[in-house]
Amino acid sequence: MIKTINRAGRREFMLAAGALAGASFFPKPARAQSAKIKLGLMLPYSGTFAQLGTAIENGLRLALDQGGGKLGGREVEFFKVDDESDPSKATDNANRLITRDKVDVLIGSVHSGVAMGMVKVARESGTLTLIPNAGADAATGPLCSSNVFRTSFSNWQPVHPLGKVMAGKGHKKAVFITWKYAAGEESLASFKEGFTAAGGEVVKELFLPFPNVEFQALLTEIAAIKPDAVACFFAGGGAVKFVKDYAAAGLKDKIPLYGSGFLTEGVLAAQGEAAEGLMTTLHYADSLDLPRNKSFRSAYAKTYKAEADVYSVQGYDTGLLLIQALGQVKGDVGNIKAVVTAMESAVIDSPRGQWKMSKAHNPVQDIYLRRVEKGDNKVIGVAWKALEDPARGCKLG
Ligand code: BEZ
Repeated sequence: MIKTINRAGRREFMLAAGALAGASFFPKPARAQSAKIKLGLMLPYSGTFAQLGTAIENGLRLALDQGGGKLGGREVEFFKVDDESDPSKATDNANRLITRDKVDVLIGSVHSGVAMGMVKVARESGTLTLIPNAGADAATGPLCSSNVFRTSFSNWQPVHPLGKVMAGKGHKKAVFITWKYAAGEESLASFKEGFTAAGGEVVKELFLPFPNVEFQALLTEIAAIKPDAVACFFAGGGAVKFVKDYAAAGLKDKIPLYGSGFLTEGVLAAQGEAAEGLMTTLHYADSLDLPRNKSFRSAYAKTYKAEADVYSVQGYDTGLLLIQALGQVKGDVGNIKAVVTAMESAVIDSPRGQWKMSKAHNPVQDIYLRRVEKGDNKVIGVAWKALEDPARGCKLG
């Protein structure tokens, strides 16, 4: 049985500066094998990414429940923090889970800026850390670390094929619009790389601060520029508003809108007609014709009375990775070297299709081209087979 202890209170804990500095790698104190394995969830449960955090937790719990509710024969206890998608609170929140709650595994987050705070703490403390969404390139790039694994994607991955797709449709001049923070900026950089290589040109980069949703002035600017197409990165509540505002501004039928697939993940019901026909690239699609995807989606719908999305898949895969690795070490989560070795060689039989870790600890995975049809992200094809993040600056492996 999985027990939950909810510690979502505001910050009241601060690690003395340098307490963790200089800690040797993997310094976990030995705990009795009979003790519960403590999982620390650092996810957004409020704000524009709240729904994403819940979907990740749901997916993780579903995998663990299906696996018998234990990890390597040991019971599991959850500790939770609402990270509010606020990077300024990230290191305090991560330190609180590690030093007060003494979690064995730190799991989070959704927001790239928050994840970078977690990675800093993970590198200093040696705590085993799993990233079930945030794409911050550096986490599996220059700041990669033996004890940090990502079960989702790098920001570079989902949009890299989009430029080629758009150029293939005859679009030569595009505008890119996004939030001004790591995920938006890195998505833009990756899109630009792919689009330029395919002969296109990004004629204007438009930003607004995260999580601002006042799109009107920027939509007016797009209308004045009249590009061949628009590409974007938005997710969660912001994605709902952007897609609706784009259509309401009369742009949808004049300037085709494309996106990193997060644009239409978990939000199609709220976007309604405004999302129909949008084309995006992502490492998952609802309609993937795989037995694993179908059984996952029906179990998820039955358990949570909600449709699964990419976030729940990433949470589910985090659970599968834990089950596999901790099963191999018979629950000895303190033996981080052995856990790391097991995670490095894990093969995840995911609803998104089978995937493995790259040397930098990021999934090597297919990226799908999808189109919204009748409220569903329909697979049009594989935009890029087994795409591996370039992991620039990572010294692992
Ligand atoms: C990010 O901040 O990395 C992110 C947030 C939502 C969806 C995808 C990426």
